[in-house]
Amino acid sequence: MTVNNSLICPVCSHSLNRTDKQFSCENNHQFDVAKQGYVNLLQPQHKKSKQPGDSQEMVEARFRFLDGNFYQTISDTLNELILKDYLSKAESSQAYKITDAGSGEGYYTQRLHHCLDTQTGLTGQPVNPQIIGFDISQKAVKASCRRSKSIQWVTATSSHIPVKSHSQDAVLSLFSRIVPDEFSRILKQDGILYVASTGPNHLIELRNKLYQDVKQLAYNPTSTLAEKFTPLEQELSSTIRYKIDINSHQAINDLLLMTPHYWRATESAKATLNTLESLTVSIDIMLTGYRLCQ
Ligand SMILES: C[S@@+](CC[C@H](N)C(=O)[O-])C[C@H]1O[C@@H](n2cnc3c(N)ncnc32)[C@H](O)[C@@H]1O
Repeated sequence: MTVNNSLICPVCSHSLNRTDKQFSCENNHQFDVAKQGYVNLLQPQHKKSKQPGDSQEMVEARFRFLDGNFYQTISDTLNELILKDYLSKAESSQAYKITDAGSGEGYYTQRLHHCLDTQTGLTGQPVNPQIIGFDISQKAVKASCRRSKSIQWVTATSSHIPVKSHSQDAVLSLFSRIVPDEFSRILKQDGILYVASTGPNHLIELRNKLYQDVKQLAYNPTSTLAEKFTPLEQELSSTIRYKIDINSHQAINDLLLMTPHYWRATESAKATLNTLESLTVSIDIMLTGYRLCQ
């Protein structure tokens, strides 16, 4: 694996060096590489619960659903945007460093690595992607090790990202927690933050089945990011709208488990959904690239 050597010690912030089975810093803080290949850099004081983030059940539901490639268009569009940015940079023969913040079970991260790894840059050199994917859920991080051995998977929180300041060409936040201070700290000055968020009609048919009064609210991350980031509306952003036909009971339930509606909807609404064998739903996603404010 080509290593993204940007990890820092979560205790003292010095660089971490990897040996076969361990990461350690010059102050001799040591972190074992788990047998699956990930490293746990989440400090106990940064956890709000014993097992933070998505549960095993949610992770497996997302793994199965994403493997159905219902969201492949989102992944492909993201990969195209990132490749476009890579190719627009003069020194594109250098390693391209990416951190996926809240990478879940690694579907998008793995597909991005595969896409970049099979491309050549302007000079004919391979792209050489070096990707870190981290998540606060140890279950999710373990599952992501099943997707790829070419990515450095890490258990960590977006509030304290164990990555060197100004080291990353791109940071991804796909349907995950946005922490502007940390994202701006780890990005290079000309780096790009890619945020995926849901539009007003995302999964509207699912929501219509679950709630009497469906609100067409869309979360716009631009205001959350405004102090640190400016959106790149045209070149490196995209609105993705299409419909998917889900033709299995299992996949409908997996989709529900992946969303916050699993916690919000009443038991009787969920029971009604549980009787369906097929469902057509709208996908409405905004993928927005942001650069650091000057
Ligand atoms: C909706 S999922 C998205 C996962 C992945 N990006 C995707 O699109 O498939 C949100 C993820 O954020 C993780 N998460 C929640 N709080 C976090 C935090 N403070 N730091 C890092 N990850 C976090 C959850 O465990 C979960 O895997």
